[in-house]
Amino acid sequence: MILSGKAKLAGVLGWPVGHSRSPRLHGYWLEQHHIDGAYVPLAVRPEDFADVFHALPRMGFAGANVTIPHKEKALALADHVEPLARRIGAVNTLVVRENGSIDGRNTDAFGFLENMRHAIPGFKAATGPAVVIGAGGASRAVVAALLDDGVPEVRLINRTRHRAEEVAAALGGAIEVIAWEERADALAGAALLVNTTSLGMTGQPPLDLALDALPLEAHVNDIVYVPLETPLLAEARQRGHRAVDGLGMLLHQARAGFHAWFGVMPSVTEDFRRFVKD
Ligand code: ATR
Repeated sequence: MILSGKAKLAGVLGWPVGHSRSPRLHGYWLEQHHIDGAYVPLAVRPEDFADVFHALPRMGFAGANVTIPHKEKALALADHVEPLARRIGAVNTLVVRENGSIDGRNTDAFGFLENMRHAIPGFKAATGPAVVIGAGGASRAVVAALLDDGVPEVRLINRTRHRAEEVAAALGGAIEVIAWEERADALAGAALLVNTTSLGMTGQPPLDLALDALPLEAHVNDIVYVPLETPLLAEARQRGHRAVDGLGMLLHQARAGFHAWFGVMPSVTEDFRRFVKD
């Protein structure tokens, strides 16, 4: 990487930030597109976040990604928050405007839908009811994306019911909260099942969910991507469902930020996926 004095700058603000794959994936696209720019990890303690946030335009940054634990703080500090980020309740992408003010966006909903559309050509949430397991930040982005893509009904299921009710209240629309104990029956007639919990991730127990009631035409998506093939996806594939892994959501959400900062919309190719996985 050789930079000029005019290089465009972006990065990821997190604490800790060492585990982030974002520098690697943005670095790949910068090189691929011969862009005079850099994307760097920025380890920022929670107590320093506001200072660093306000310093970004002053240091000439085009913007940044925001990750744990700063996403809610970024929403509070941004000068302009796009409506989708406000609905989701978190900002993961900052874009500096020419006048130095900062836009707060959330690209996770875009990442979820783009991942589904690339994995399953013609995918439309409007096809039928979706069952979403979990009620954290990722769940909000997935449910918002499904509603915006015309899903007729979201069946939202979380171990802690009141968190699902909070998501339903925040997002509005056709969301039915269903009890954790009834999760297996809730699959009847669904067109899509999405796991947004951390269950199935390396070191975590698998998601305990009997798939018998899920129609075979239904698609299954897990937003967990370590491992790429979670027990849920393996079982779904075995039953004959189209199973979509979670790495694509991470990669596709990154495209939107890259486009805003560096002016090129990159694509998620098989080579790119392989590069990020290794
Ligand atoms: P994120 O913002 O990344 O989605 P989160 O807010 O910690 O993360 O949410 C994690 C999700 O995984 C929650 O829906 C959580 O359920 P609770 O709200 O009941 O905590 C779910 N989850 C984590 N471990 C779980 C387990 N052992 N059984 C059931 N759900 C679990």
